Amino acid sequence: MFVTTINDLYLELSYNHGVVLIIQKVFDKMPKKLLENLPEIKTIIEPFRIRSVEAHGGTTVQERVLALEAAGYNPFLLPSDKVLIDLLTDSGTGAMSAKQWAAMIASDEAYAGSKSFDNFQRAVQDITGFKHVIPTHQGRAAEHILFSNIVQKGQITLNNTHFDTTRANIEYLGGEARDLVIAEGKQPMHIHPFKGNMDTDLLRQTIEREGVANIAFVMLTVTNNSGGGQPVSMANIKAVSEIAHEYGLPFYLDACRFAENSWFIKIREEGYADKEPIEIAREMFSYADGCTMSAKKDGMANIGGFLALNDDDLAMRCRNLLILTEGFPTYGGLAGYDMEAIAVGLYEALEPDYLRYRIRSIAYLADKITAAGVPIVQPPGGHAVYLDARAMLPHIPDSHYPAWALCNALYLLGGVRGVEIGSVMFGMQPDGTEKPAPMDLVRLAFPRRVYTQSHVDYLAEIIIMLYERREAISGYRIVEQAPVLRHFTVKMAPL
Ligand code: F0G
Repeated sequence: MFVTTINDLYLELSYNHGVVLIIQKVFDKMPKKLLENLPEIKTIIEPFRIRSVEAHGGTTVQERVLALEAAGYNPFLLPSDKVLIDLLTDSGTGAMSAKQWAAMIASDEAYAGSKSFDNFQRAVQDITGFKHVIPTHQGRAAEHILFSNIVQKGQITLNNTHFDTTRANIEYLGGEARDLVIAEGKQPMHIHPFKGNMDTDLLRQTIEREGVANIAFVMLTVTNNSGGGQPVSMANIKAVSEIAHEYGLPFYLDACRFAENSWFIKIREEGYADKEPIEIAREMFSYADGCTMSAKKDGMANIGGFLALNDDDLAMRCRNLLILTEGFPTYGGLAGYDMEAIAVGLYEALEPDYLRYRIRSIAYLADKITAAGVPIVQPPGGHAVYLDARAMLPHIPDSHYPAWALCNALYLLGGVRGVEIGSVMFGMQPDGTEKPAPMDLVRLAFPRRVYTQSHVDYLAEIIIMLYERREAISGYRIVEQAPVLRHFTVKMAPL
């Protein structure tokens, strides 16, 4: 609680100690003029001190030109020591806390029945309420194990927006991944508090039209990463759950950024302002039959994930596949110390001071560059700012990949690495044809607890400089590509 008035202090003390005498003493000593009616403090401060530091790669413009050419004009193939501010992903790139490192030192590395698994399981059950907790080495392994057990060839899966690995895992099994995000969620400039919501009318129509037997499951991705890191409201989670269950379909959450989604519900949805993020998270999970999770995001860990669910029979089948592909059910591809890091990290991700700082620092960058005219997905998401390349570079046609071009220009100018979320990532259809993605974006994803406000100021300066020179940016063509998930390894050439 932030103490701004004597009254707040009174409440805080009576809440914490319940000792009226102390309150009276403090009240008498209080320099009232100095401390009463304090205004809200505007500066964003990192809610941590830094005791371990890592030098980052300073490069010259010339070095970056050569590095990008050597990487086949694909930022995924750049060595990280050639990157100054790395916003490629918020996945597994965060800084861990002293408490996480301490828990890791005390881990139990037993193959079976380790205490570290108990700690991990207890934390996941406490937050999600799901009965079965299946550890995996990261999110996509949880997806693969779950989908292998519930998706039949030819079946359709429904999501607000499937993330790329989610979609790829479904297509690999012969399923068809369909995105049903609300129309506002596809318009970058349109302001809406919950642009990650699913269109519930479309959900119902799709189930009716395709038939329940042809649908494998309904899922909501919180926050909706591929749709701009946009949150899903509690009302929408509840409504989607009710529709799915009405038709007897299972409903899952892709919970990678559940804590950030909880914070958005707290600050944007009526009735949640006074709730703790952890209570909101518990309510979100209560509407679902299970979740897949990448602990590399809101698990605050460098590796790890899990599948959590209630269905006993399905859990047994998933554990059988887990043993085949990941490991024994009490470690599933993780070291004991990874499970300890996640057990602590899941709670740290839900701390209000942390979430306030995280969401505000991203909004701070968004506000600065928006004021200079840079088009971004509005409002900014929970883990990233998404630059709208189609709006910024109208002179580059979709077939020349404007977001890819913008991403590379950002690296050349300032050593900043983002990621294209557009037609290179999503444009190739399962039949090999090419179709422009609904949005062509550059995502600048913030690692958790890594960069400070002056890093963000630098970023704003570089992005604005790039915006002023936008007409000098030209497109790219593909030289070499893989048949699936081509963006990771594609080689490009400037036009
Ligand atoms: N679902 C969502 C919404 C994701 O954002 C990711 C990963 C995954 C599933 C897969 O998890 O990487 O642990 O296997 N997103 C990362 C990103 C890679 O950069 O957004 P994973």
